[in-house]
Amino acid sequence: MGVLSVNLAENSYDIVIEPGALASLGERCRAVGLNGMAAVISNPTVAALYGTAVQRSLEGAGYRVAHIEIPDGEEYKNSATLNQVYDDLLAAGVDRGSFVVALGGGVVGDVAGYAAATWMRGIPFVQVPTTLLAQVDSSVGGKTGIDHPKGKNLIGAFYQPRLVLVDIETLVTLDQRQFRAGLAEVIKYGVIIDLPFFEFLETNSSAILAMDADALIKIIHRSCQLKAQVVELDEKEAGLRAILNYGHTLGHAFESISGYCTLVHGEAVAIGMVLAARISVAEGLCSQEDLTRISSLIARCGLSVEIPHYDRKQLLNAVAADKKSKGGNITFICNRGIGMYAMLHHTPEELLILSRLEA
Ligand code: NAD
Ligand code: GLY
Repeated sequence: MGVLSVNLAENSYDIVIEPGALASLGERCRAVGLNGMAAVISNPTVAALYGTAVQRSLEGAGYRVAHIEIPDGEEYKNSATLNQVYDDLLAAGVDRGSFVVALGGGVVGDVAGYAAATWMRGIPFVQVPTTLLAQVDSSVGGKTGIDHPKGKNLIGAFYQPRLVLVDIETLVTLDQRQFRAGLAEVIKYGVIIDLPFFEFLETNSSAILAMDADALIKIIHRSCQLKAQVVELDEKEAGLRAILNYGHTLGHAFESISGYCTLVHGEAVAIGMVLAARISVAEGLCSQEDLTRISSLIARCGLSVEIPHYDRKQLLNAVAADKKSKGGNITFICNRGIGMYAMLHHTPEELLILSRLEA
């Protein structure tokens, strides 16, 4: 169960999923041939919890370790933070022979990954994800980047890590809200590509919410496996990889109009999935029963399925700013029943009408 491979020719890497995996970080970095100094990029919250364990493991394997902290929060996933990281990398003497360790959730992973992708034209990096969302999604697949004031993740690079190390024990300190937000991305995989996994989530939601270790390993392992399969077929999102954006188009729009503060990413995706399922019903791709089943699982996982209050014009503008928009049309991912995706093209206006957001 413990090690999965992402097969991308010379960019291939392993995902290690193991309780207590942090202790093996140093030796695993050596095993994949990483040398020089380890620049651990984290935030104050995660560094206080796991910085020492990470340092001990890296030093135990003979690495010199530099610590770089970025402020905690999506609002800091920006160019000012990135510039500060560059300053810190320079001050620490991180050169082309060194590597970055991203220790934290999706924000740290995206910023640290992008810093690694661009520092001295690219140095290797390792993902050590510590939120459920990062363990099942953002640490795998090589999307790195920062937000622009006009839109989320507008600046970035595809840059694969050399290793992903998932220690499920780090989830013990994660607050319940963030844990549930991560479940939205887990449900996503079931809805678009894996009906038996969706059924597993339905049957085991109590064990998952109770953070039963076996249930956690199963959902993280299956999510990473499904994501790896998609990324292996379409690393740079020429087509298929867009299915992983299920729930994200409208979810991002709600996240953006909330100023990235009322809703956390996974909560916005949960709402986006309900709306995507509504559109799927309107398009004749799935039944009302499927929509109810999807909404019920989301709700059972402790996520709100209520559509937040919104200003229609603001929402339309936010949808139109979507990266997947081409010539006014957006590639929109729907569910065909449960366990299969469909790709449609619609204008933002049509999406709002089909998802019954016309009021
Ligand atoms: P996050 O990184 O903001 O982490 C959430 C909170 O949990 C933060 O306050 C963090 O400090 C804290 N935290 C992290 N680990 C902890 C732990 N073990 N114990 C206690 N607290 C902990 O949020 P996130 O949900 O992990 O990531 C969201 C980001 O990921 C967004 O920016 C989103 O765009 C990005 N994302 C990227 C991809 C990708 O493919 N690159 C995919 C999905 C999402
Ligand atoms: N989270 C979407 C992707 O990695 O493509």
